[in-house]
Amino acid sequence: MYKKKVFFNQSLKDLNTFAVDVTAKKIIFVKTIKSLINISKICKVSNIPYIILGEGSNVLFLENYRGIVIINRIKGIKIVEKKNSWLLYVFSGEKLHDLVKFTLNLGIFGLENLALIPGCIGSAAIQNIGAYGLEFKDICEYVDVLSLKNNITTRINKKFCKFSYRNSIFKNQYNYENAIIGVGIKLSKTWNPTIFSSLENYIKPKDITAHKIFNIICTIRTKKLPNPKKIGNAGSFFKNPIIKKEQAQKLINLYNIPNYPQKNGLVKISGGWLIEHYQFKNIQIGDATIHKRQRLILINKKNATSKEIIKLAKIIHACIFKKFNILLEPEIDFIGPKGKIKSSDIFKLKIF
Ligand code: FAD
Ligand code: EPU
Repeated sequence: MYKKKVFFNQSLKDLNTFAVDVTAKKIIFVKTIKSLINISKICKVSNIPYIILGEGSNVLFLENYRGIVIINRIKGIKIVEKKNSWLLYVFSGEKLHDLVKFTLNLGIFGLENLALIPGCIGSAAIQNIGAYGLEFKDICEYVDVLSLKNNITTRINKKFCKFSYRNSIFKNQYNYENAIIGVGIKLSKTWNPTIFSSLENYIKPKDITAHKIFNIICTIRTKKLPNPKKIGNAGSFFKNPIIKKEQAQKLINLYNIPNYPQKNGLVKISGGWLIEHYQFKNIQIGDATIHKRQRLILINKKNATSKEIIKLAKIIHACIFKKFNILLEPEIDFIGPKGKIKSSDIFKLKIF
């Protein structure tokens, strides 16, 4: 059992891509399921809070974490060939971009649109990551979840994961009683490219290959998005709002706002456009500001504190509501001193 006196504060600055300078009582890298079970057991017996992180690319620590941060490095990829498809089992600590490159090099296609998204494959399931027309749900077969209460692993078929835009059953869990330990992925042997809106600006349809899509997406992302190794950020801070058709139509009549009708009749509109067209003039709170090429992304220019980032986010949130009557919903997870907390505790998310 860990005694309180063996704890000392360790920096999390390099383990969260926002590069916020906070500490944890202890940071432990785990490479096996067995050590994950052992550490969680010790934490429970000693009444010490713990959280699990992948690459820390979708979190904002609000203050120093008063427990153990477990960094998931449980790795491994198994591939089974079927007549018409490839079945992959990927342990949750594998990096997504490495998996995309690995499969491409083997001539297994279908993940290329997810190139350069930071983070681990286990976390990809949590918010059903997506980019350039492809979401995790489109390739996922199931998610293996280990209960840290009874050490039993349950295979959750994708039908029961409730995947939707940046959401799933996992996103709404606020304790760490369940750990994602692996995911099942199915990729067809007949490659069916996922075409995204600006692809034709880069390549003629007849020349499309999976490698070319991969390269084009890497080029677009490198130009547009801040590199977290150089500028702290966690990708889109807010989601693109999904609103009722009537409200969207009013906005479309007033402004030339990018909009994407959804299958359920609602309309997704560009949150980046809303922020850009509010025209915050060089707004900066301490070292926290808005990224110039992608306004959904908040950046830490150097030494921003989480208080400054939250203050900036609250100003954006309030201004967008005032001007467009839309409540932006955060995409990232907020980690308080004892664990993940609801974004509704920080931002007002419903009008009524
Ligand atoms: P973390 O930030 O480490 O964790 C996220 C949450 O999951 C936390 O609550 C954590 O406690 C929990 N968690 C992590 N691992 C486990 C586990 N094994 N079991 C249980 N809970 C766990 N996202 C997109 O969808 N599309 C994009 O295009 C995109 N682009 C990005 C670009 C940049 C520059 C950055 C910085 C981020 C971007 N993101 C994007 C967001 C981010 O990359 C994804 O959300 C990614 O899946 C996070 O992975 P991670 O391993 O870093 O998760
Ligand atoms: N736009 C603006 N200003 C901006 C940003 C966007 O006007 O600052 C408008 C433009 O018209 C642009 C359109 O919105 O053409 C779409 O922009 P972009 O392709 O950059 O996509 P996004 O909707 O802003 C989403 C995801 C990204 C993902 C990209 C590419 C969310 C919250 N974000 O951004 O994911 O990489 O699409 O598919 O859905 C993330 O989740 O962290 C993330 C970076």
